[in-house]
Amino acid sequence: MNYKHHFHAGGFSDVFKHVVLSYTLEKLQEKNTSLTYVDTHAGRGQYYLGSSDAKKLKEYVFGIDALFNYSKHFTAPKTIQHYMDTVDKTKSNFIYPGSPKIAEAFMREADRMILSELQPDEYKFLKDNMYRQDKQIAIHHMDAYAAMKAFLPPKTPRGIAMIDPSFEKRNEFLMLEHVLMHSFKHWRQGHYLIWYPIKDKKNVARFQQFLFGLSAEVVCIDFFIKNLAITTNLMGCGMALINSPWKLPELLFDEALPYLGAALQAEWRMQRSLDS
Ligand SMILES: C[S@@+](CC[C@H](N)C(=O)[O-])C[C@H]1O[C@@H](n2cnc3c(N)ncnc32)[C@H](O)[C@@H]1O
Repeated sequence: MNYKHHFHAGGFSDVFKHVVLSYTLEKLQEKNTSLTYVDTHAGRGQYYLGSSDAKKLKEYVFGIDALFNYSKHFTAPKTIQHYMDTVDKTKSNFIYPGSPKIAEAFMREADRMILSELQPDEYKFLKDNMYRQDKQIAIHHMDAYAAMKAFLPPKTPRGIAMIDPSFEKRNEFLMLEHVLMHSFKHWRQGHYLIWYPIKDKKNVARFQQFLFGLSAEVVCIDFFIKNLAITTNLMGCGMALINSPWKLPELLFDEALPYLGAALQAEWRMQRSLDS
């Protein structure tokens, strides 16, 4: 396992992913019932943008920095502003919050969080960064796919699984399909958010076909950077939403994606399954 998220922290892909996550959590919390957030590939919780790794590609310049700059001229929608407020708390110290920290910002008293991370150093940082005395957050040094089998469905009435693999393995899409088939059998009504890179378009199309074949409402959003001068090993990525909360796709389509697209100079498209 060589992947280091530090290189990409705060880049366009993180911003896109964390904005979609923020909208999903906010929508789910319109109901009072408690929620469990399961983050299968949690990373270290937060990233120091002053580190030599982060400074190597400076992906944050075209991600979170671009979003903040754009928001000086065009008012951000409420949920994007909420996400930016979370980032703003640590940004002056050059720290960018990862998905667990973003989710923590939305957590209510009765909500729970389960985090798993396999890479030993990342796990140690995650434990330090996410430690709380109130036991609302459980942190596991564990393989993501074992965690999905162990923790889904969660004990609370509702839950969301955030699945954000590093795609180091050539067969990661296939592994995802297998584990999703398993989880889906036991937790059909669960809300799932899955991030994927867009490098090999054939693999992505095949994965999306698999998702659209599930008997659930599935929405796939592909997001591409237009500016080819940006130094990144990835020009596009996507998020799949299974059983997305009511009216969330419309909200993303009408509000979040146009704003993000303009702020990050990105193109996007949304595809929906026949069930949605
Ligand atoms: C893209 S990063 C996660 C970023 C994080 N979700 C965020 O948005 O801030 C992927 C993480 O998955 C971890 N990882 C890779 N394979 C894993 C596995 N099989 N089980 C659990 N974690 C894994 C990597 O060490 C890395 O920290």
